Amino acid sequence: MNQLIERRKVTARKEKPDSASLGFGKYFTDYMFVMDYEEERGWHDPRITPYEPVHLDPSASVFHYGQAVFEGLKAYRSEDGRVLMFRPDQNIKRLNKSLRRMSMPPLDEKLALEALIQLVELEQEWIPIEKGTSLYIRPFVIATEPSLGVRPSKRYKFMVVLTPVGSYYGDQLKPIRIYVEDEYVRAVTGGVGDVKTSGNYAASLQAQRKAEELGYDQVLWLDGVEKKYAEEVGSMNIFFIINGEAVTPALNGSILGGITRASVIELLKSWGIRVREEQVAIDDIYEAAMRGEVSEVFGTGTAAVISPVGALHIHGETIELNNGLIGEVSERLYETIAGIQVGKVRDSFRWVVEV
Ligand code: COI
Repeated sequence: MNQLIERRKVTARKEKPDSASLGFGKYFTDYMFVMDYEEERGWHDPRITPYEPVHLDPSASVFHYGQAVFEGLKAYRSEDGRVLMFRPDQNIKRLNKSLRRMSMPPLDEKLALEALIQLVELEQEWIPIEKGTSLYIRPFVIATEPSLGVRPSKRYKFMVVLTPVGSYYGDQLKPIRIYVEDEYVRAVTGGVGDVKTSGNYAASLQAQRKAEELGYDQVLWLDGVEKKYAEEVGSMNIFFIINGEAVTPALNGSILGGITRASVIELLKSWGIRVREEQVAIDDIYEAAMRGEVSEVFGTGTAAVISPVGALHIHGETIELNNGLIGEVSERLYETIAGIQVGKVRDSFRWVVEV
């Protein structure tokens, strides 16, 4: 691979954390990637630098009007020592979709991919190898122009940081408890719910805190207009297995199009399981669950992978699902996707990229 990206060296390498204490996003590697944008010059100066604080003007528009987008993907170490990434091209496409929606300049997709690959290659010693661990890659773009006018910034920074991670919710396959949120809403069609902009997550925190105080792990958002239809969970998309078929909310413009979601749909179809992408009324889920027709519920996401749901709190009532155990489909999906990601299961969809 060509060394396209200029590199400044660190003086000392950090100590690597032990795998049991990883958690999610607590430790950062020695290097990061940075590239700048100015209206007159376009994107320029791609570089790998030591992981270090960023110098920004207090009037940088990201602090005031929130032009900020991000992505999340992972790199894995296979048993035979290869470094693998899962569908990175899809993350870069989605990053550009988010950038365009937030009036920010899109990136050259080839260069962005090369940046991820070169950074991961340089930092490959940080990829943990225990089951369920990986090196999480966080690309993001922020507006840096010092200006208080409400208009698109003329300057930006694209950065990529890396963090070795374990499972997002603690115990990967322990079913989580979900609170169906019927007070706050996340997004409406025509808004920014279908892109990965930072404000969506800031806006979710209050409901997330409420759910935690009530003893739940995550919030399931309903649509922002009628509060009737399931949309997505705080950090993942949602699937219901009803009478042997998979049902997931259709991408209606206010839901984030997850890359794990798309992969799960392809896998389920390849196994002969029918997948319905449609409007999913939460009252229909409640009634189906009461009739004993909902055998499994699970979330899908890069951070979460496949996360079984053991309880759903709907309109004041908690429905226990599958006796709080992981379901068959969820388990098979997890083993297959996680297996493909680490090169253990045949990658018949050609999702994996070797670094
Ligand atoms: C991811 O799954 O990568 C996400 O970005 C979700 C969350 C950690 C913000």
